[in-house]
Amino acid sequence: MTTAKAQVAVIEGDGIGIDVTRATLAVVEAARGIVGGFDLDLVPISAGASYYAETGADIQPGGEEAAGEADAIFLGAIGLPHIRWPDGTEISPHLRLRDRFGLYAGVRPVKAYANAPKRLADPRAAGIDLVILRESTEGLFYSAAVHKRAEVVGDSAVFETLRISRDVTERLHRFGFRLAEKRKRRGSPGRITCVDKANVFTSMAFFRKIFDEVAAEFADIETGYNYVDAQALELIRRPWEFDILVMENMFGDILSDLAAALVGGMGMASCGEIGDELGLFQPAHGSAPDIAGQDKANPCAAILSGALMLDYLADRTGGEAFATGALLIEEAVARGFEENRLRPMEFGGDMGTEAVTRTIVDLVGERETRARF
Ligand SMILES: NC(=O)c1ccc[n+]([C@@H]2O[C@H](COP(=O)([O-])OP(=O)(O)OC[C@H]3O[C@@H](n4cnc5c(N)ncnc54)[C@H](O)[C@@H]3O)[C@@H](O)[C@H]2O)c1
Repeated sequence: MTTAKAQVAVIEGDGIGIDVTRATLAVVEAARGIVGGFDLDLVPISAGASYYAETGADIQPGGEEAAGEADAIFLGAIGLPHIRWPDGTEISPHLRLRDRFGLYAGVRPVKAYANAPKRLADPRAAGIDLVILRESTEGLFYSAAVHKRAEVVGDSAVFETLRISRDVTERLHRFGFRLAEKRKRRGSPGRITCVDKANVFTSMAFFRKIFDEVAAEFADIETGYNYVDAQALELIRRPWEFDILVMENMFGDILSDLAAALVGGMGMASCGEIGDELGLFQPAHGSAPDIAGQDKANPCAAILSGALMLDYLADRTGGEAFATGALLIEEAVARGFEENRLRPMEFGGDMGTEAVTRTIVDLVGERETRARF
């Protein structure tokens, strides 16, 4: 068997970012030991608020370039509210990486795990398994303060720009349809819903028009539409009926937090930010300074992001062993919750970061799991 190889730039960052990154690498290493057939060359990169406090720079010299040369980037979390640039904004070099490498496809899986808190009383909530696909480089965030593109008219008005470009939107929708195909091969319904506000905004009608054009290339995928306000309602009323929801940046920002709450909270919210040349993987949560250094963080979001990264590396390198590793980790987490062996403190349980990590490493290594591969 040939060994698939990939280089991963690792940015632990700040606060619990450090703990959950180490947890993820331990679980990935356990999966590698079981599956074999893949190797990771890890390249540590220092960046974040603590690094800035020590050095005056937010990332090590050459760090961005080194990240760009890797096959993927794994990031824990960056930012500490009490450490800021002189202009008062927070240290966030990861936002530059998103822009610099065109990481337009924000993939945010939302999946219910047994025994993890569910916020909906309906028993069908146990079947929630959807992906929010959030465009991540333009939309209303084109006008984010960091880009300094807002038009400020004295103290009387501010105009922000929402950009929808054909180039990015075509790639986003094509990514969404391909993801729907991939999920369909693994048992999902193969359905994608365009979430927009095409009834009111020209930009959103354009977003939908491009969705329809791309849909014509994918006859096997079922399509649907929802205005974003109706989608917010449907995410509470019947989230189990959705598969992939594709949307503009700001809509995705809001709905992905709402959806994460349906299946527990931030400690379960994994995330991939994927472009044509590179993917960055990180838990959706921040550095959680309120619990940092106390062994209280739930590492599952980071570990599931690690699984997303392996799946991405399989597509990127053609190394199927990466995808097998990803599946092994996802199944271990699912089984851990099912058998009530994963009880993170975040959900009132008795297990800190280290205990959750050790248990997932054990689950990955267990015979029953191994027998399935
Ligand atoms: N991508 C990123 O790196 C990222 C994302 C969001 C926030 N941040 C930064 O993180 C810092 C803190 O931000 P915040 O407090 O708004 O958001 P946060 O996600 O760090 O924390 C919000 C709340 O959720 C809890 N929480 C988060 N992750 C958890 C986990 N894995 N297990 C258990 N509980 C968890 C925290 O304890 C806190 O109560 C800020 O400096 C912010 O800028 C970074």
